[in-house]
Amino acid sequence: MKPPLVVGNWKMHGAESEARRLARRIRRGSGRMRGVEIVLAPPFTALHEVRRVARGSRLALGAQDVHWEAQGAFTGEISPQMLAEAGCSFVIVGHSERRRLFHESNQIVTQKLSAALLSGLRPILCVGETWEERRTGKTMRVIAGQLGTALKGLEKSAIEKVEIAYEPVWAIGTGRNATADQASEVHLRIRSLLKELAGTRIAAGCRILYGGSVRPDNAAELSRAREVSGALVGGASLKAEDFLAIVRCFVP
Ligand code: 13P
Repeated sequence: MKPPLVVGNWKMHGAESEARRLARRIRRGSGRMRGVEIVLAPPFTALHEVRRVARGSRLALGAQDVHWEAQGAFTGEISPQMLAEAGCSFVIVGHSERRRLFHESNQIVTQKLSAALLSGLRPILCVGETWEERRTGKTMRVIAGQLGTALKGLEKSAIEKVEIAYEPVWAIGTGRNATADQASEVHLRIRSLLKELAGTRIAAGCRILYGGSVRPDNAAELSRAREVSGALVGGASLKAEDFLAIVRCFVP
């Protein structure tokens, strides 16, 4: 059984000195939080600095996005190999902000996912419905579509290495989190989709994180929800004490 996983997605925050300060505080505060895996995903430009601070600690490094080619004429892009070399062991793939603001299709997400796996990175695959989709009863269909396209071509052994993050788009940055029941309902569906794709044993070993307005005051309840094996935290990961309070809720 894998330990719970808590990821801080710093998004486009954290100039070098800020990133150093934040990572140091998190390092200091997380020393005794055993039994939970903690990942910091700063902007690309702060990876080096956060890697330096995290060295020898229990913190792992993640990136927020990746390109699918190893190298080439792709101005502005970063390859999986480059991320691995920069010390990343995780990478977020298919975040709704990438899908929505940068027009990433399910197809692109699939390519990124496969490329990340080939380079030995652990992808954190984000799925989630908009409010309109939830309101009109399409949540499960949307999730099944996103998950199915992304994982379809993968070997079962590769699916085991993918972390899934359920992030309802309407809960991201809005202060309006999914309730524990709403999260569980979707996580259970994701678990059964994983069973269909990879079999019971592999599906049982996959972690399904919840993301979307996770805060210190709702993390305990969400951490106890059925099938929730961790959290993907945005805004609250920018304050060390808030992020640490969230991590503490997931310590077994
Ligand atoms: P917030 O925690 O700020 O809602 O962001 C969630 C998120 O998008 C993490 O990837």
